[in-house]
Amino acid sequence: MAGEVQDSSTSVWSNRFKQSLHPFIEVFNASIGFDLTLLQEDLDGSIAHARMLGSCGVITAQEAEQLVQGLETVRTEADAGVFQPGPADEDVHFAVERRLIALLGPVGKKLHTGRSRNDQVGTDLRLWLRRRLDELEEDLQHLQRALFSQADQHRRTMIPGYTHLQRAQPLCLAHHLLAYIEMLERDRMRLRDVRRRVNICPLGAAALAGTPVPINRQQTARELGFEAIYTNSLDAVSDRDFCVEFSAAASLVMAHLSRLAEEVITWASEEFKFIRLSDRCATGSSLMPQKKNPDVPELVRGKCGRVFGHLQGLLTMIKGLPLAYNKDLQEDKEALFDAFRTTRDCTKAMALLFEEGLEFRTQNLNDAVEQDFSNATDVADYLVARGVPFREAYHLVGAVVRRCLDEGCLLRDLSLSTWKELHPAFEADLNAMLAPRAVVAARRSQGGTGFDRVDEQLEHWLQHLNVTQPVG
Ligand code: ARG
Repeated sequence: MAGEVQDSSTSVWSNRFKQSLHPFIEVFNASIGFDLTLLQEDLDGSIAHARMLGSCGVITAQEAEQLVQGLETVRTEADAGVFQPGPADEDVHFAVERRLIALLGPVGKKLHTGRSRNDQVGTDLRLWLRRRLDELEEDLQHLQRALFSQADQHRRTMIPGYTHLQRAQPLCLAHHLLAYIEMLERDRMRLRDVRRRVNICPLGAAALAGTPVPINRQQTARELGFEAIYTNSLDAVSDRDFCVEFSAAASLVMAHLSRLAEEVITWASEEFKFIRLSDRCATGSSLMPQKKNPDVPELVRGKCGRVFGHLQGLLTMIKGLPLAYNKDLQEDKEALFDAFRTTRDCTKAMALLFEEGLEFRTQNLNDAVEQDFSNATDVADYLVARGVPFREAYHLVGAVVRRCLDEGCLLRDLSLSTWKELHPAFEADLNAMLAPRAVVAARRSQGGTGFDRVDEQLEHWLQHLNVTQPVG
């Protein structure tokens, strides 16, 4: 065509450039090695953009249709594994556009009208994260269900409760597991909250200042399912708050998983013997034939560092950037992708662990709470119920524990006459109240470990976790 500027065949850049890029710099600059992850979202965003250009009369309806068809062809090629761009394509956005031009000829060159890679990459990233947030929320719910199922089977199993990892008071095992279901519920709420701010569309902000092309930003936002559009074009292309927010929410998920993982590791030890690891999720030692190692929870605990690190990395990456887009922002992707993948994989691994990777040793657990002084508070509470001031009762019981330790016995071994010598308020009903099962059952305060209270909580979660709530 007369007057048409020739494309350089070796570079994606305009004819401003005379020399080609140094091959090392080409690779250094490229993000195609990791941002192909955004391919589906890039195609979705471009299809919406092409349709909008058509309906605004910027291009003809026929051209818009050709672009949409061409983009769908790229999708088909990618599905078939024949779309394989390399470093020369720089990034997924250029790779798609080049392929489109190769497929459609001159019409393909109209796709990038009225937009920039800056608003394009922001759109793709948000579309990608929005989908992943929904998936992660479901994975977390799946883990909640796995924990629930164990809790449900252990409504009457007891486990020592600890503070400072010292025996404190006996607990209902279901109560202990429900604590993690609660944490994961807050994690899910946080992800849903992050989603609200991810779901804002930057498309149409163009490079940084908007565009003279008569586009319709509402139309593309609506078609792509965004709740709203960014109201300031500079903010639209510069904002990575949502990446930081996601990494922070993911970090808390990981912190919760790690605490649970740490407990599983401890419980599996010979010293505790609270659980047995199944062959499905445990590994052996190359040297010591007797060993069975809790690699899964250890990896979960270990992988926390990556996600916490990505949060730090993202914050550090954005903190000194002048408005608007800077190439530094390309660094957001690997952090975000890895934070997501790590968190999702750990969530799935923990769900598998509780579904088929471990078994609570009920007998050992119930026996464990019999062998300690974790009913000492209840002796004090017994006296309190009979009018003795708490602090006085507390000191008296402390002395009794001291005496038992010296004599090598437990509180239940003391005779009623001994108790009576210690305080006249003690009666024959004391011993029954000191049984761990009675101790647990007595904690009927709201949120307490009393079996009745735990049953109520289980009922609540049964309802709540069965309901498949629409995400949004
Ligand atoms: N690959 C780039 C990124 O991930 C796309 C945006 C490039 N924009 C630019 N002005 N160089 O951030």
